[in-house]
Amino acid sequence: MCGIVAYIGNKPATPLLVEGLKRLEYRGYDSAGLAVVTPNGIQVHKSLGRVSVLEDKIAQQTDIQDAAVGIAHTRWATHGEPSESNAHPHVGKTRQGHSLALVHNGIIENYASLRTYLEGKGHTFTSQTDTEVLTKLIAELYETDLESAVQQALREVTGAYAIAVICDIEPNTMVCARKGSPLIVGIAERSYIVASDASAIVSHTTQAITLDDYQVVRLCAGKRDKFTEEQGPWAIEFRTTTVDNVPVTREVTELEMNLQQIELGDYPHFMLKEIMEQPESIRNCLRGRIDHREGRVVLGGLNEITRDLVRAKRFLFTGQGTAYHAGLIGEYLMEDLAKVPARCEYASEFRYRNPIIEDGTVMVAVSQSGETADTLAALTEASERGAMTLGAVNSVGSTISRITDAGVYLHVGPEIGVASTKAFVGQVAVLTLLSLFIGKRKYLSNDAVAEYLKQFEQVPDYIQRVLEQSDHIKTCVERVVDRDNWLFLGRGYNYPVAIEGALKLKEISYIHAEGMPAAEMKHGPIALIDEGMPVVFLATQGTQYQKVMSNIQEVRSRGGRIIAVATEGDEQIKQYADAVFTIPPMPDALQPLVSVVPLQLLAYHAAVLRGHDVDKPRNLAKSVTVE
Ligand code: AGP
Ligand code: GLU
Repeated sequence: MCGIVAYIGNKPATPLLVEGLKRLEYRGYDSAGLAVVTPNGIQVHKSLGRVSVLEDKIAQQTDIQDAAVGIAHTRWATHGEPSESNAHPHVGKTRQGHSLALVHNGIIENYASLRTYLEGKGHTFTSQTDTEVLTKLIAELYETDLESAVQQALREVTGAYAIAVICDIEPNTMVCARKGSPLIVGIAERSYIVASDASAIVSHTTQAITLDDYQVVRLCAGKRDKFTEEQGPWAIEFRTTTVDNVPVTREVTELEMNLQQIELGDYPHFMLKEIMEQPESIRNCLRGRIDHREGRVVLGGLNEITRDLVRAKRFLFTGQGTAYHAGLIGEYLMEDLAKVPARCEYASEFRYRNPIIEDGTVMVAVSQSGETADTLAALTEASERGAMTLGAVNSVGSTISRITDAGVYLHVGPEIGVASTKAFVGQVAVLTLLSLFIGKRKYLSNDAVAEYLKQFEQVPDYIQRVLEQSDHIKTCVERVVDRDNWLFLGRGYNYPVAIEGALKLKEISYIHAEGMPAAEMKHGPIALIDEGMPVVFLATQGTQYQKVMSNIQEVRSRGGRIIAVATEGDEQIKQYADAVFTIPPMPDALQPLVSVVPLQLLAYHAAVLRGHDVDKPRNLAKSVTVE
């Protein structure tokens, strides 16, 4: 997804903007650019490809190194192909002859009609983007000040935006706004750092404000003409309003993220770091949430609505991608442990299906970023139809976490790798806690809850036992990494794990992989099995173990290569599988927390062996904040 970084204050903006863009590279993009205000007006530099290309391009530009205010952007194209001309910032000329520049994350849906209107006013366009239309609309509406022009323009547009805007005639001012796309304003001693997420802010400050939809912030920073001794020469101030210019108050909060969490350390890739830190991140997720003395789950964020949750007639889980797979496990957990009807739906399908929301429905939005556009929209749809809404989100203060009635944070720490790993296990852990939290208040016996919680506390150690197989997994992958079509098969709780494993392999190694219920293979996909085709089975000890063993025979008899995730001590599986990765014995309901880890490592090693950029896979974005 795109990244916005903007700076206004007492230090040179340009190097800070480039550093910020690098912190946001993990979000995924195709081009980059920046604009700064200089005594010779606004200077804009853009480039296709990596931030390093832009950095090389501006290295010799001496006239931009001292600018005190600037905006920067990494683009993930939605309107107009990736190109230098379509890259942001985009510029506009006001009727008074002033120049302004803008960066944008999101989609302006009514850009075409606005472009026609602006062309009629004499504006000419140099790009195919919706963003340039918004830029020139603000320029067209500029009368006395930038803030008013931005507010007025945003009243005219439909769609999603996070924007930062500067203007040469107001060099000590920057105006930002958001609707549907994330934006955080970091407040330092003598400057503001604005960014799409905290990773570009925490090296400067941990004090920040977030905006709600339809809110605007005007940032002013600069030398005072006159000042007293205690004031000092620098003044910074911000003003928050709605797009209708109604003043609003925004609390300054403490950002949870710290630098160590977003630094690579000794790892070659963030994805491997995040896979390897899962024991610790799951301990953090569970911390304070399991009370063994009372044999119960403690979820403080649900205190106000516990009664409503226990009375809920139906749970709807929703999300996209990996988060959807976690939600699918939530569906199984809720029906198995709490005996409440449950279903998981793709958010993108739910939101357009004119869904039926019966009384007593609770929607649980699952999301690492808390900003996924489709998940946000599904949540809004369900809420407007009367559902109670919960969030299972990692990013504290994200939009989903702020618009839901209540929620449970994952607390697994920032996830930088585009391929979600620790956040997936965190999502499943939270949904397991939620199901036990409700199950205890319904039909699950105290002994059963106590046993689950005892096993749950072992999960970090169980994950560690899988991580120690990483070299073995790599050796096994080397033998089949040249194969271009894989199947992932599982039953029960391990069916969603199978489709998650397939997604992991697809998105970072670019190998085509398909996950499905093991029994489904016989109804068509078995035709795909040819000599040496890798078929990954989730074949752990559990209620459907023998059925899975039969499926393994069906594949073997057609020449498929069997890669099995099995339970420690299973000697039978070794007779039929070409490679075996093991997890400790554990209840079916808790297995996904651990059985996914071999598949994460499998995908990681395959991608590295194929020479791909594991942390920034082609075409992918970390957070899809556009539809
Ligand atoms: C998972 O590896 C992908 N990066 C992607 O499917 C992701 O899970 C999906 O876009 C949802 O993102 P979210 O959890 O931030 O909502
Ligand atoms: N819709 C804008 C464009 O295509 C912004 C895309 C983004 O969010 O990076 O340029």
